[in-house]
Amino acid sequence: MDTLDIIQRPRRNRKNAVIRAFHRETQLSAENFIYPLFIHGGTGTEAIASMPGCFRLDKEALFKEVEGALEDGVRSVVLFPAIEEALKTPTGEEAGNPEGLVPQTIRDLRDRWPELVIVTDVALDPYNSDGHDGIVDTEGRILNDETIEVLVKQALTQADAGADIIAPSDMMDGRVGAIREGLDIAGFADVSILAYTAKYASKFYGPFRDALDSAPKSGDKKTYQMDPANAREALREAALDESEGADMMMVKPAGPYLDVISLLRESTTLPIAAYQVSGEYAMLKAACQNGWLEEKGVALESLLSIKRAGADIILTYYARQAARWLREG
Ligand code: PBG
Repeated sequence: MDTLDIIQRPRRNRKNAVIRAFHRETQLSAENFIYPLFIHGGTGTEAIASMPGCFRLDKEALFKEVEGALEDGVRSVVLFPAIEEALKTPTGEEAGNPEGLVPQTIRDLRDRWPELVIVTDVALDPYNSDGHDGIVDTEGRILNDETIEVLVKQALTQADAGADIIAPSDMMDGRVGAIREGLDIAGFADVSILAYTAKYASKFYGPFRDALDSAPKSGDKKTYQMDPANAREALREAALDESEGADMMMVKPAGPYLDVISLLRESTTLPIAAYQVSGEYAMLKAACQNGWLEEKGVALESLLSIKRAGADIILTYYARQAARWLREG
């Protein structure tokens, strides 16, 4: 057969592993990961049906999980609490209780591992009897400024307990500035803010809400979380969060919003985080458990793609396992 008359043959740059490695543009590393963990105040470990491999952990199980994560090279965790129904109120006061589950857990972890980077979620949904991230009025509206007062208290409680990074996921307007000011006045100038900047009103959060039993009792989150149809609006949120003092900005979910990650990456010099959320994890898990996809391959590919799109930091339920897979090569 005659050879084709072509000068360019891109396949020459893929002809063996060494040459492919020469020009690989994206490297995934355990250093990029933040590991989300669910905690509860009871005893024992509770399985989460829609998130195989994830559990609600009591203190002992949490310590084991964090120890394992550190051994695997994952050096940061973000905590999400399942709060008992009796402690939930319309205004979510428990969020600011210094003896609450989250502050206590932070202190325990901080005592045991001074170097562990502890990230905390700021939002009222685990604490609020309405299951919303903010306070709901009698007409079902989510009150912005009233909510922020509670969120600042929540953030201060977490900072005081030893959190390194405060991550407001509530999407109220002005909360980053208010939390920054609150932290600075209270002497926590070194505590960082990772803003959930472009957090979409996504159906991919379903399994997470099962895990925490935190689904809204009525209505949806569309008056505060962003419309999945919008990308330009993410730039507006990013400009605000940056001017209000965010140290890092997040896009959430990650996989279905790679375009938004890339857009924010190009519009800011701040580190960008992306959250591979519960529904993304559940989809991969379900297909892999059925034998329809190969788990190591698809999980690492999904994380690599999030990084390639422009994320520096990835929050993922696969953090520990991915760290081990990366080490295996
Ligand atoms: C709540 C919060 C949610 C997630 C993180 N923080 C759920 C929501 O907004 O309803 C979702 C994470 C996931 O799905 O893995 N403020």
